[in-house]
Amino acid sequence: MSLIDRSAEHSSLPFSKVDWPAIRRDFPLLTQQPYGKPLAYLDNAATTQKPNIVIDSVAHFYRFDNANVHRGVYQLSERATAAFEAARDKIKYFLNAPLREEIIFVRGATEAINLVAQSYARPRLKPFDEILISAMEHHSNIVPWQMVCKQTGAQLKVIPINDNGEIMLDSYRALLSEKTKIVAITHLSNALGSIPPVQKMITMAHAREIPVLLDGAQAAAHFKVDLQTLDCDFYTFSGHKIYGPTGVGMLYGKKSYLEAMEPYQGGGEMISRVSFESSDYNSLPYKFEAGTPNIAGVVGLAAALGYINTIGLDNIRQREQQLLNYATQALEQTAGLRIIGMAKHKASIISFVLDSAHPHDISTILDQQGVAIRAGHHCAMPLMTRFNVPATARASFSFYNNESDIEQLVQSLQLVNQIFSGKMGE
Ligand code: ALA
Repeated sequence: MSLIDRSAEHSSLPFSKVDWPAIRRDFPLLTQQPYGKPLAYLDNAATTQKPNIVIDSVAHFYRFDNANVHRGVYQLSERATAAFEAARDKIKYFLNAPLREEIIFVRGATEAINLVAQSYARPRLKPFDEILISAMEHHSNIVPWQMVCKQTGAQLKVIPINDNGEIMLDSYRALLSEKTKIVAITHLSNALGSIPPVQKMITMAHAREIPVLLDGAQAAAHFKVDLQTLDCDFYTFSGHKIYGPTGVGMLYGKKSYLEAMEPYQGGGEMISRVSFESSDYNSLPYKFEAGTPNIAGVVGLAAALGYINTIGLDNIRQREQQLLNYATQALEQTAGLRIIGMAKHKASIISFVLDSAHPHDISTILDQQGVAIRAGHHCAMPLMTRFNVPATARASFSFYNNESDIEQLVQSLQLVNQIFSGKMGE
């Protein structure tokens, strides 16, 4: 089987030349017909579907290259190690990170944030120190900080957002103080689609020598991330939200921070010498990679990044903005529908409520029409409280979605309105 990246056919094309229908055909799952209806998969913020190149890379690895990494002095292990380490380089270039040893493989963004909370923050925090997050964080960028607050006596402070779902920068400025020891914010809200002004926020924090962690779980799939321009101190994303496998992700940390941090977990690979009295730790990045990693996942992630690069993140951003605008206009015309989160800077995620039905009922009816959306609190319960709603329905779009998916969504919502207003069959 050839692993030649056939998506390279789309490579480096100007936007007007990109063949979006052909790109959609790279995703075999999207041809399914649930309930005999075309599948409109609109839950990309929860997880993205996988192109053939990713599925094939993982299968190819297990079929031909499977061995443990960094351990064997035989050809197979060397091949597996080469593929694994090549993926690290790919991520470094994908994010324009300064150094390859600043890229740590983890299970996902959740593990990365827990790692920073425990290995960076915990030993450095004192009672009444402060950790600053925003009101639109995912639980994975709230709970690890709450845990470390409980362990150290530090306090969690929350940057408020306005009714559009935008960070209130004046409040952020006022909250930054000598007590603030780290700022941890999303690079793109999974529940609202808002893109916070992270560049400004990093500059403001750095003026006080406060490190900043960006949760890129959503952002990395939607637009170009340049770590050297952003100059954030920690960055993370998950493989499965960026067209790669589940159970793999990465943490970027500035070398100076990572070197000063104790390991997060102990075990094989993260040591250079072990005796029963003490152990010496391995160098970066291995110090933070205890145990056998998700090697096939890493290989699949590298394939996903290669695939994205061949389409081009600028093309992806432009296409998804088209879909966002089309969907926003169409949804605004749906009776009784209110969009939650109208930030000026937004990616292709739309949360909404409908007067006629609870989000879970909406989702159930939409499912029967072939439309997959998420309903609930989106792992952002405090945000639901902020908007005074118990839950929302959320449609999140990828570049492989199209206008027909959106029309199917809107028609299905009209059906929900008919069913719940009792007008069916009249
Ligand atoms: N964080 C994922 C979402 O937003 C699961 O749906």
